[in-house]
Amino acid sequence: MKKLLIATGGGDCPGLNAVIRGICKRAKKSKEWEVYGSKEAFNGVWTDPTRIIKLTGKRTAGIHVRGGTILKTTNKADPLHYPVKDKEGNIRFEDRTKELAERILSLGFDAVINIGGDGSQKISKALFNHGLPIVGVPKTIDNDLAATDMTFGFQTAVQIATDSFDKLVTTAESHHRVMIMEVMGRDAGWIALHTAIAGGAEICLIPEIPYNVNKLVKKIESRYEKGRGFVNIVIAEGAKPLNGDVVARKGEEGSRHVKLGGVAFQLSQELKDAGVKAEIRETILGHVQRGGTPSAFDRVLASLFGVKAFEMVLKGEFGKMVAFKNNDFISVDLEEATKGNHTVDPKGYIVKGAKGLGISFGD
Ligand code: F6P
Repeated sequence: MKKLLIATGGGDCPGLNAVIRGICKRAKKSKEWEVYGSKEAFNGVWTDPTRIIKLTGKRTAGIHVRGGTILKTTNKADPLHYPVKDKEGNIRFEDRTKELAERILSLGFDAVINIGGDGSQKISKALFNHGLPIVGVPKTIDNDLAATDMTFGFQTAVQIATDSFDKLVTTAESHHRVMIMEVMGRDAGWIALHTAIAGGAEICLIPEIPYNVNKLVKKIESRYEKGRGFVNIVIAEGAKPLNGDVVARKGEEGSRHVKLGGVAFQLSQELKDAGVKAEIRETILGHVQRGGTPSAFDRVLASLFGVKAFEMVLKGEFGKMVAFKNNDFISVDLEEATKGNHTVDPKGYIVKGAKGLGISFGD
């Protein structure tokens, strides 16, 4: 029997378990492969072999409906660059790509499927360049990978955000308030944009369109003047004012991860400073957007990504990532897949259409 190793890396995302199950089901049909999973991305490989578990039918049965990942995950450290403290206590990062590739092969694995976002696929590419037969599966609620039209987790996140938005509308209306709801998405405004359209927001602020506070004040004032005594704003965590910076915090010690979050409070203060008299309340949705059951669409996308990824292993299509393009499941070179981010086009139709619905971007 040949041996396949699966890892899930980066932030978790609804649909990860559906990919794992899809791979295992298709592998079972091949009758030639056994599937294993490394706990917490490649930490299982680095640490001790008991953290590499066999993914039996019993372990993976019915997991496609569950959020999170049965393999656990981490975005704390890049497995290729290990933090090492020198004598002075300074942290430097050591490149261990070659060592990791060799270690996986020496454990008897014939192929690897790495499920993860942008950062994880850069890791896949580096490992492939060091001789590891590896296939990538894209994952992120942010929907910011250029090579694929859609990533699983995105639709679920938008649904969760929209459900919360709907709730904020009724309380905004009752209190004549301005409600600011902050959503995730890193440097891409997809979650915010789709939520704003689905929920019917008055204002949507995204990283791709820096906002002018004075224009927002005008929009808010005109809503109150017209008698619509409340305003609902969706702001992406990566949004920034025309002359300002995004709120970003460094991750934990030894991590290269940068945390975003808190722009809702920044905006609230900016609006008050610019003269908005109405009461303002802020909601930061945070990690609920990544939790719980994946939507039906995300289960389908994730399950088929899993099946396709395993078929790529069977065909020896390594150094590639599965992608969903023009309603089809294809493979793209990791080199291509990791080039550039898929962000919102400020001049594209989705923004234009949103403006047609009366949504202001503060531009
Ligand atoms: O990339 C997915 C994502 O949820 C982003 O939208 C967000 O900025 C980030 O991960 C949060 O990461 P963490 O889990 O480390 O807080």
